[in-house]
Amino acid sequence: MQTAVLVGCGAMSDGWLSALRDVPELAAGIRLAGLVDLDLGTAKARAAKHNLDVATGTDLAAMLQDLKPDLVFDLVIPAARAQVVKTALAHGAHVLSEKPMANSLDEARDLITAAAQANRLHAVIQNRRFLPGIRRIKQALPLIGELTAVHVDFFIGAHFGGFRDQMEHVLLLDMAIHTFDAARWIIDRPATGVYARETNPKGSWYAHGASADALFDFEGGVTMTYRGSWCAEGANTAWEASWRIIGTEGTILWDGNEGITAHRVNGTEGFFRPLTPVDIPPAPPMVEGHAGVILDFLRAVETRSKPLTEGRDNIRSLAMVFAAIDSATTGAPTDMRPL
Ligand SMILES: NC(=O)c1ccc[n+]([C@@H]2O[C@H](COP(=O)([O-])OP(=O)(O)OC[C@H]3O[C@@H](n4cnc5c(N)ncnc54)[C@H](O)[C@@H]3O)[C@@H](O)[C@H]2O)c1
Repeated sequence: MQTAVLVGCGAMSDGWLSALRDVPELAAGIRLAGLVDLDLGTAKARAAKHNLDVATGTDLAAMLQDLKPDLVFDLVIPAARAQVVKTALAHGAHVLSEKPMANSLDEARDLITAAAQANRLHAVIQNRRFLPGIRRIKQALPLIGELTAVHVDFFIGAHFGGFRDQMEHVLLLDMAIHTFDAARWIIDRPATGVYARETNPKGSWYAHGASADALFDFEGGVTMTYRGSWCAEGANTAWEASWRIIGTEGTILWDGNEGITAHRVNGTEGFFRPLTPVDIPPAPPMVEGHAGVILDFLRAVETRSKPLTEGRDNIRSLAMVFAAIDSATTGAPTDMRPL
């Protein structure tokens, strides 16, 4: 049984606390010992809401000193993340952070170094990798030949309030990281460059960057386009976005939910070549979403293996975000040097 302290008891913590309670593998493997938030009332309210008999406090270092947990779950706002992760690592804990991994690439590199020096695991919540839809697509890719292009649309009119309203590059940094990480996992090769534009459209209720378009190049000539907005009212896509995945012999469409269709060419004659529907097999049974990432992390800690979403890999997705921000800021394409 691993003990854990959770820091950052805002909106996201409800999902985590429910997963820790309701998913049998997590309930059996993790004992939550404390909740920390800058605001003691927030930590206490969260403990009360989930009927938890745990320590509550505002000082992470003091609680770590006191409880010496094996794990720290970091759900603070992105601007506070690096300090929280370093504090947790310095106290000997393995750390699972919410996305984004860090507020800059330098911060992310620093955290990877700190985790290596502390000899502790450091991973990031990229819950999209733990969805049956993306698992089905990943295993079905060979059915459409060699992958050539991925096109992703994300349009959601989301009124959060809170830190996002003032955050710079809010869509690229706080949301597109999910889509970029999922695309990178599907494409399974390094991104080499990007040309991006970022706008804050008329009527936006965000202060900065609520919409963005980006064209990525990947090794081997694969391209990825992203069109996204957090202030597009009227026709929301799924939170997981809407995908068109093209191979040399066919295409997979994914609506981000249960809807996956695929066709492949079945002949060499005609203006439009004949097509055959492709059956996309179901994903193997799995613990999904946040709970899936937490369980993967727990198993990695127990067996000292590599979590799927470890920081050393996740920095490559974060690099896509910062390259897109760089391109949008300079107005020129950005090369992505190897990390
Ligand atoms: N993976 C996902 O699907 C997903 C979805 C939503 C949010 N998130 C991420 O979760 C994180 C938290 O988002 P949220 O919506 O819960 O934000 P929130 O603003 O509701 O909560 C953040 C909490 O962290 C606390 N906090 C800030 N700095 C702190 C510090 N130094 N020490 C202790 N507590 C501190 C705040 O007081 C607040 O209670 C963000 O990084 C966000 O991007 C992830």
